[in-house]
Amino acid sequence: MVSRIKGYDCVLAVSSKSSADKIDMLKSMGAKVYVCPAHVSADDPRSYYEVAKRLHEEINNSIYINQYFNELNSEAHYLSTGPEIWKQTAGQITHLVACSGTGGTISGTAKYLKEQNPDIVIHGVDAYGSVLKKFHETQEFDKNEIYPYRIEGLGKNLIPSATDFDVIDKFTKVKDEDAAHMARRISQTEGMFVGYTSGAALQAVKQLVKENAFGEDAVVVVIFPDHGSRYMSKIYNDQWMQDQGFFDSVSTATEQHIEYIT
Ligand SMILES: Cc1ncc(COP(=O)(O)O)c(C=O)c1O
Repeated sequence: MVSRIKGYDCVLAVSSKSSADKIDMLKSMGAKVYVCPAHVSADDPRSYYEVAKRLHEEINNSIYINQYFNELNSEAHYLSTGPEIWKQTAGQITHLVACSGTGGTISGTAKYLKEQNPDIVIHGVDAYGSVLKKFHETQEFDKNEIYPYRIEGLGKNLIPSATDFDVIDKFTKVKDEDAAHMARRISQTEGMFVGYTSGAALQAVKQLVKENAFGEDAVVVVIFPDHGSRYMSKIYNDQWMQDQGFFDSVSTATEQHIEYIT
């Protein structure tokens, strides 16, 4: 969006896990997209991290956004998301639940909120197949934690310096299937058409409620990072859900909601 307005070329390296909807959207707005294999290690020359680095070296006068290792990432949230939440809850927030990918959102927001009230508890949402939770708990980067998972945008196979682990109190891991069903449920019941990581965030809340993580007077803010329209070919596609083993049968949702007049 910024590139179009400013007249820049926008070159993006994304994981092959990215939904076709996202890639089509980027293409439609004129970006050049390099789709890189999802299940290679971060230091593999084919990974989206390494491809982005290489493209930056090859393209004259390019700016490398480097979102995983750029302190401006969390600073943006320190200057915007944090104050917004503090203001909109009139300082009443007691807990923040936010997904962690680059960690920019949770780190910048948490830093601002903890400066206002150090008692605010910060919950990060991580995926099974990602290293973040274990690294937070043990300071160990454990390669054995890494395996393929379907949720896009949260969890990592490296430790981003954009994540400030000190401001995060606890990580909760969520399963692909639970997050997908939760996103669909939010869309059906809340009037909000949300993305996969939004489902993950509310799934984490559900798990935390079971662990009695929130008192009766808690004011819990949950960040929904993405819109459902980017997942039409995935969690909102019944066939995809069935192919992942998340549905017993495809007929359930589709046939109830669409009738063709011939
Ligand atoms: C869909 C989605 N959800 C959540 C996140 C996590 O946000 P952050 O990178 O600020 O940790 C991302 C990151 O790009 C994302 O793409």
